[in-house]
Amino acid sequence: DWTTGNVIEEQVAAIREQVGDRRAICGLSGGVDSAVAAALVQKAIGSQLTCVYVDHGLMRKGETEQVEKDFVAATGVQLKVVDASERFLTALKGVSDPEEKRKIIGREFIRVFEQAQAEIVADEGPAVEFLVQGTLYPDVVESGGGTGTANIKSHHNVGGLPEDLEFQLIEPLRQLFKDEVRMVGQELGLPDEIVHRQPFPGPGLGIRIVGEVTKERLDLLREADAIAREELTAAGLDRDIWQCPVVLLADVRSVGVQGDGRTYGHPVVLRPVSSEDAMTADWSRLPYDVLAKISTRITNEVREVNRVVLDVTSKPPGTIEWE
Ligand code: XMP
Repeated sequence: DWTTGNVIEEQVAAIREQVGDRRAICGLSGGVDSAVAAALVQKAIGSQLTCVYVDHGLMRKGETEQVEKDFVAATGVQLKVVDASERFLTALKGVSDPEEKRKIIGREFIRVFEQAQAEIVADEGPAVEFLVQGTLYPDVVESGGGTGTANIKSHHNVGGLPEDLEFQLIEPLRQLFKDEVRMVGQELGLPDEIVHRQPFPGPGLGIRIVGEVTKERLDLLREADAIAREELTAAGLDRDIWQCPVVLLADVRSVGVQGDGRTYGHPVVLRPVSSEDAMTADWSRLPYDVLAKISTRITNEVREVNRVVLDVTSKPPGTIEWE
């Protein structure tokens, strides 16, 4: 009989058996998979688990706090947070090419994570022999049983880590689909914002700024994105759309008029999509009044943005993200 209760009970027993009195670590990305995997392992082995959250400074508004505060409060997990935002900004300085950005973010992420991991391993106590991963059933199938999925973009799954593993893997979600993972997360008492979080790319806002990534641009985009998410939530549309990237065209300027003055600001693009599995997608026919509200608020509240445009391209030919 499949119930979330049974799944949790079974996995908890299996993890205890596998780990014994040794230790495990887990990378948290802010996403639902790593959060549920970590919560399950925490339930099984408590303080023998240490989670690591690398703050690359490319998260959306409130997401880091959700992990640091709400996730920890809900699970009691032992968490090591590494604020590496300066390091990522420095590494990304002067870089506009999307693939280059992805490579840099992936590389820096692994370095920071490995350093944190070494510090945890060096702590006194039993050996750290296990790495927790939020691998789902579709990941297992898609990759023919291995790890890592082929894609036309280099996907650096933040939370999914280096191949030269000195660790044994704990993959408690290997038999589950996404909706089942959400049910398990809910049953484990995780915050709704995490359980129902829409997909968000590992490289974060770094690949939603067309052009160089700077602190100012990130702050701007974070504000615009927060407004769009707020209004979509208020309109009750979160579960109808797959996700809605907000993209800053940082190298484009257009003329506008705000108040009494001429402006020369940047456009942001709304990219609402409907999809089953992200392999293909259609643009979501959002209600005009919701689009109007988002547009008005962003141009009123975010200095530097004087135009909001809507992406009406399906995938293919467009990918969901712009980079
Ligand atoms: P594209 O842009 O390829 O995106 O149509 C398909 C889905 O994947 C997400 N995405 C990523 N997820 N690491 C991730 O974990 C990445 O590097 C990455 N790039 C894109 C994207 O948000 C969409 O849901």
